[in-house]
Amino acid sequence: MGPISSIGLIGPISFSPMILYFSGCGNSQHIALELARLTDDVALPILELDTIQPVTLNNGLLGIVCPIYAWAVPRVVEERLRQLTFSAKPDYCYLACTCGDSLGRAPERFARFLRRKGLHLDAAFGFVMPETYINLKGFRLDTPDSEQRKIAGVQERLPQVAEQIQRRQSVVDVRRGPLPRVTTYLVNPIFYRWIITDRKFHTTDSCIGCGQCVDVCPLHNISLADGRPQWHGDCTNCMACYHHCPVNAIHFAHATQGKGQYYFGRNKA
Ligand SMILES: Cc1cc2nc3c(=O)[nH]c(=O)nc-3n(C[C@H](O)[C@H](O)[C@H](O)COP(=O)(O)O)c2cc1C
Ligand code: SF4
Ligand code: SF4
Repeated sequence: MGPISSIGLIGPISFSPMILYFSGCGNSQHIALELARLTDDVALPILELDTIQPVTLNNGLLGIVCPIYAWAVPRVVEERLRQLTFSAKPDYCYLACTCGDSLGRAPERFARFLRRKGLHLDAAFGFVMPETYINLKGFRLDTPDSEQRKIAGVQERLPQVAEQIQRRQSVVDVRRGPLPRVTTYLVNPIFYRWIITDRKFHTTDSCIGCGQCVDVCPLHNISLADGRPQWHGDCTNCMACYHHCPVNAIHFAHATQGKGQYYFGRNKA
């Protein structure tokens, strides 16, 4: 699978989305498309939805698929959900999150967020997938072996999750990791306050001005000026620009030097 393309604002009536997804590097997009395929439904990128008209739900189902950022659902997803309205209350709502390792108390935190919107979270599924976050010392990508193992594990599990969704089961099937309350409720706000920024992105002289980084940014936060990317301050550190650059010319301070690149499908022939 190549870079995630922008499809422009999706109008109100032509789709009945069941799955709304956000994805920087393709892991969550893969899960969303697979769940849509296995449950015979539609997956749409949440940031491209029209916020003016209510979203029409298919079969009363609503699935939210996204990565985990700092042991919680990314703020950008919650912000967009806050803006959306639904034609009717879903009778079954689930969260499917991809993570590099663990997702803390993300389901409980997200359930509380949904309650404030008058929605009920019925199920949460965690999928451990290749790591994309490398902006801090000590954070590394998976080895090719571990990358393959994670993807194989996910492929094996997807049909079972799809069946649980179709049966509308109430389950929480996630890996939480150590100290989940601390990571989700204490570390997360610190991460958003002090770590997430685009001010530390820069390019090396190997940049060829291809514009790939502009195309893949889900927040449309990058433009080219004199053939070089410029970041405009609305960034969620999804790392799509970094990982998709064909010549690895983008770096985040010195933290990403020599760490390699990954996006879903990158190593496919
Ligand atoms: C900003 C950021 C924060 C992350 N935080 C976590 C985390 O708290 N726990 C975890 O296991 N993985 C974390 N990850 C890894 C991603 O959740 C994981 O690689 C995910 O599958 C990426 O999905 P995507 O390819 O759809 O963007 C983080 C990644 C990013 C970019
Ligand atoms: S993707 Fe890489 S090479 Fe292409 S414009 Fe962006 S930084 Fe330059
Ligand atoms: S600018 Fe930020 S939000 Fe856009 S692709 Fe890069 S890391 Fe992601």
